[in-house]
Amino acid sequence: MHTTNRNLRPDLPHWMGLWGVLVLTACGQSDSKQTPSSTNNAARQSRRSPPEARATKHFSSKGCEGCHPQQYAQWQHSMHAKAHTEPVYDFYFMTASRDDKKLETFCGRCHTPIGTTTGQIPFKHALHKRGDTRVSSVAAEGLNCDFCHTITGHTKVQNAGFIFAPSLTKRGPLANARPVSHKAKHDPYYRTAEYCGTCHQVVHPTNGIHLETTYAEWKASPYAKAGVVCQDCHMTRSLVTLRADGAIPAGKPTRHPGKASNMGGPRKHVSDHFFVGPNLMFIQGTAPDVVAQRKRSEALLRQAAKVEVGEVTRKDGVVEVVVRVTNKGAGHSIPTGVTEIRQVWLEVKVTDPKGRVLLHSGARDKTDRIRPGAVVYRTHVYDAKGRDTTLFWRTVKKGRDRRIPPLKTLTETYKVPASTATRRAKKLVVEVALQYRSVPPWGLAEAGVPKGTVKVPIFTMCTARKETLLR
Ligand code: HEC
Ligand code: HEC
Ligand code: HEC
Ligand code: HEC
Ligand code: HEC
Repeated sequence: MHTTNRNLRPDLPHWMGLWGVLVLTACGQSDSKQTPSSTNNAARQSRRSPPEARATKHFSSKGCEGCHPQQYAQWQHSMHAKAHTEPVYDFYFMTASRDDKKLETFCGRCHTPIGTTTGQIPFKHALHKRGDTRVSSVAAEGLNCDFCHTITGHTKVQNAGFIFAPSLTKRGPLANARPVSHKAKHDPYYRTAEYCGTCHQVVHPTNGIHLETTYAEWKASPYAKAGVVCQDCHMTRSLVTLRADGAIPAGKPTRHPGKASNMGGPRKHVSDHFFVGPNLMFIQGTAPDVVAQRKRSEALLRQAAKVEVGEVTRKDGVVEVVVRVTNKGAGHSIPTGVTEIRQVWLEVKVTDPKGRVLLHSGARDKTDRIRPGAVVYRTHVYDAKGRDTTLFWRTVKKGRDRRIPPLKTLTETYKVPASTATRRAKKLVVEVALQYRSVPPWGLAEAGVPKGTVKVPIFTMCTARKETLLR
């Protein structure tokens, strides 16, 4: 790598220019709005001190794009890049802030760590409408390149327990990276689940109730024992599969040879920065990068689970249908993360040869609510008034947690009440679909998201169909 960079020296003015932009962005833009005095200090410092001492500010991802175009193209449409600005978070955040202003720093430390550590959050004003939560352009990048690559460790693997400090040394998984424009440090921490777990494990700030438990679910799973980390599924192009007994990996993480920087030489593996996940709400465009992100998300959802129609029996005219659902691909429960908000559910349809629908569980009503009686995988939390809520910071009590644990199969039984049709039918068709949506309409309403602000796609993760003859 070293030699490659030296060979590229004739180009130096061109890309040093880029770095110049970077430094300018860092000193001039990141938090100048909020703290003019510190900007003056930084400007004064930058005239005197060597680069490392100058790096008291955070860089925009745009400054990395020139030399790391692949990472930038992928990151820009990821949920990490939108963590502070996307509307669903924005409304939940404002609702939390109106409940208790102190929550702003709590939420902000994970959703815009730069906005929080530079003192832009907590906001000095009350938050009511979109725009009230504006931060500097660098902080608005949510989790950007520079933040993630200056993390050095953690105090605790929960509630934003990461340690980070602005620095010109960018840490990462590569050995022998010697870029000329910034320093690089090989840090094995970047290949651990703990690195992700500092944010992907959320505990209620005052009552200690565990809300988001992705890291703990992974830690207790066969994946942790097999050494398969978050990065192996969320920063590559296919999932690592384990055998059903969990003991031996049936597959290895996919490796993508390429270049970590267009200023560096070839590498055996360059990780994906899509941070692929199931949230399809904000990747609904036709731009090639958006389409690439959506395709990855859809592929992830398709690989996550399988459904199967089991025994179909009839007794005294009552038809019983067994459905099995298996989490075959996720290194944690399905769903995980903000499981008070997410919904994964079984849609089961039983029809007779005449096409009459005898059962339709998991159907939605006119307001898009799932009709009662369906199997819905999510966690229930209750506020002080005992209401089942998606406003998870109001949790005083945790209720039912019905989800599909990693590599586990759940068996669900459906009963079709006796009728002339169920008594007479000689043959039945059972169709099953496992559906995913990021937020139910009543969740959006609770957070005060105005109707029409976001469209929530419903995605079919997997399906099964069975025709059976009844005895
Ligand atoms: C959420 C944190 C996070 C963000 C945001 C992020 N990275 Fe990374 N990056 C990582 C991790 C973790 C790895 C190591 C993954 C692995 O090796 O499995 C990595 C790897 C890399 C590498 C090493 C080569 C490679 O791709 O494997 C480079 C270079 C890099 N990132 C640059 C960037 C740039 C540029 C951006 C912004 C466009 C960015 N990163 C955004 C966490 C992040
Ligand atoms: C002028 C070009 C240039 C710019 C601008 C640049 N980088 Fe790099 N970066 C490189 C080169 C070259 C490498 C080494 C690639 C290799 O060895 O394969 C590298 C390597 C890295 C690594 C890997 C470190 C490791 O040891 O794993 C990270 C992380 C990284 N850069 C982050 C960033 C971030 C964040 C920014 C923006 C704040 C940035 N880079 C801006 C050229 C640049
Ligand atoms: C074996 C592959 C695998 C591993 C390991 C893995 N994941 Fe996942 N992850 C998935 C799949 C598949 C999905 C989509 C299904 C779902 O939502 O659970 C997913 C979904 C997610 C989601 C979105 C949840 C939602 O519904 O909003 C988050 C967040 C996430 N993973 C974070 C992590 C973190 C953090 C780790 C490590 C502690 C991790 N994952 C480990 C495969 C994996
Ligand atoms: C500084 C905190 C932080 C760190 C570190 C972090 N994340 Fe996240 N991550 C978030 C936040 C916040 C969101 C949700 C943003 C939103 O939906 O508004 C998120 C969302 C996600 C999603 C969901 C995307 C979707 O489509 O639903 C995945 C997958 C994910 N992160 C994986 C990872 C992995 C893998 C790592 C480690 C390499 C990691 N994250 C490290 C804070 C973090
Ligand atoms: C310890 C880190 C952490 C803290 C603190 C935190 N979050 Fe998050 N938040 C996350 C992660 C990680 C995700 C992504 C999980 C997933 O995709 O399911 C997320 C996702 C969300 C989402 C889903 C966004 C979407 O588009 O679907 C909302 C809404 C949200 N958070 C609101 C909040 C609010 C409001 C607070 C403060 C009361 C808060 N969060 C505090 C880490 C955190």
